[in-house]
Amino acid sequence: SPPAVAEEAATGFAAIPPGSDDRDHVPAGYRSQVLLRWGDPVLADSPAFAIGAQDAAAQARQFGYNCDFTCYFPLSTAGDSSRHGLLVVNHEYTVPGLMFPGLGADRDAGQRATREQAAIEMAAIGLSVVEVRHGAEGWSVVPGRYARRLTVTTPMHLSGPAAGHARMRTAADPAGRQVAGTFANCAGGQTPWGTVLTGEENFHFFFGGGAAADPAGARYGMSPRSWYSWHRHDARFDRAQEPNEANRFGWIVEFDPYDPASVPVKRTALGRFKHEGATTVVCPDGRLAIYQGDDERFEYVYKFVTARAWNPADRAANRDLLDEGVLHVARFHEDGRLEWLRLVQGEGPLTAANGFPDQATVVIEARRAADLVKATPMDRPEDVEVSPVTGRAYVTMTNNNQRRPEQVTAANPRATNDHGHVIEMIPPDGPGGTDHAATEARWDVLMVSGNPAVDAGTRYGPTAEAGDWLSCPDNLVFDPAGRLWVATDSGMRGGAADGLYVTATTGPERGRARRFYRAPIGAEVTGPCFTPDGRTLFLSVQHPGMTAGSHFAAPSTRWPDFADGMPPRPSVIVITKDDGGPIGG
Ligand code: FEO
Ligand code: CA
Ligand code: CA
Ligand code: CA
Repeated sequence: SPPAVAEEAATGFAAIPPGSDDRDHVPAGYRSQVLLRWGDPVLADSPAFAIGAQDAAAQARQFGYNCDFTCYFPLSTAGDSSRHGLLVVNHEYTVPGLMFPGLGADRDAGQRATREQAAIEMAAIGLSVVEVRHGAEGWSVVPGRYARRLTVTTPMHLSGPAAGHARMRTAADPAGRQVAGTFANCAGGQTPWGTVLTGEENFHFFFGGGAAADPAGARYGMSPRSWYSWHRHDARFDRAQEPNEANRFGWIVEFDPYDPASVPVKRTALGRFKHEGATTVVCPDGRLAIYQGDDERFEYVYKFVTARAWNPADRAANRDLLDEGVLHVARFHEDGRLEWLRLVQGEGPLTAANGFPDQATVVIEARRAADLVKATPMDRPEDVEVSPVTGRAYVTMTNNNQRRPEQVTAANPRATNDHGHVIEMIPPDGPGGTDHAATEARWDVLMVSGNPAVDAGTRYGPTAEAGDWLSCPDNLVFDPAGRLWVATDSGMRGGAADGLYVTATTGPERGRARRFYRAPIGAEVTGPCFTPDGRTLFLSVQHPGMTAGSHFAAPSTRWPDFADGMPPRPSVIVITKDDGGPIGG
């Protein structure tokens, strides 16, 4: 049952009905503006976007494709901290059929991309950092010294237990300590000392070649077939030529957005899997707990706890904090107990005899380590967020259409779970606050998604009305008032476009899902992020127009430009309230 705490502020807007068209929708009294589109300038010397005549050098200076996670970092601590800051944005993957003329709309379109097109794709993913300011015309990107693009070639360090390990060494990096780039960046997080964490998720999409029979690769979805053409044009993505390169992806990457020259670091202590994101929370003793979902069917929820407390007085002292600590994985007991199991070499089954001679192997093959300690296989764990009001944590299970009836558990309560659910994790109270470092907690179900009119087993709050439903919860964010916002990635299941929803975690509105934003056809909604005052909402609209048969010449929408010849463009939008008040209030 919900805790006896202050209820979140009620919502004050007329919910958007379910549906789908070629545009996006916000409630009456709200304004949406497009802040950054694929191809917009990021660096000061960025060439203008030339659709149909793109090139890789230009793309490396422009806003990338498929924006996902967004994270706002204030640039001042004065009164305008919510009106001037840095925005960090992930670019997760490419959709070649919608990016380039002539590739077509079928599943193999990406594999037909030319060398130059593949080079553009490599420059179109990674991250962007831009400076943003709120002025008379609303929000805009402003030139400044912080602007940065990170791509598949940006130099990065490896740190933690796997750095330097034999399985991390390649021809280009015989020491196993330097990696070129990051990709498949889905969601992420931020640290209390103002660095970004970005999650490398479906890295296997970008590799091809190699042997079909490869258990360590297969556990991560590797196969000789790739979704893309990269392995034909660049040897490091061909696993036959560079079998260890894939071990250098699937990590959490940390970098300092305030220092455009900072070298990003892949923090291997946090484990290698398909990271949705990394959500940090400070424990009462000052240590950090970092919650992480591994987004694949029957994968796990993880939590890393640092060995040391963070130092609020000395930013530099936290530089390597994420290299030491204990990685845990969750077991959701049927009786509501949540147990965090340690993934430490030499403990329990994680022995040399079982193929874990060192901690490097434990983190490189974190999934197999989690199998051995008998973690609970979940329905595609995605984002995690912690309520600023109650201290409870929430994790989305986006869907799992392969769960069979005999595999149903209390925490994964539906077979053929097409629409997903949201789980609440309830750490114990410790002296000084909620103890996210504890190895025992409780769990509950906040919501079981789907349309109650047609889908079995849905659970929403008692106050939910006919249109108050969602499918495939993915990214989460809390606003300062403690309302939980849920973005969806359903691929238009049930015929409805994806959106952003708001719910409460306590009180009568607990579990009710009110639709605040509806995306254009084919788009997934990602990366919701508020300014500290809760009066601006940044949102990524990812892969608009990505529907069956849609391609460059004949897309299912041309949002947001609606110009002939211009395909749809993934974009970050900004939503504000006409009266300047808190979003959702
Ligand atoms: Fe990239 Fe788990 O969504
Ligand atoms: Ca996601
Ligand atoms: Ca989030
Ligand atoms: Ca997703």
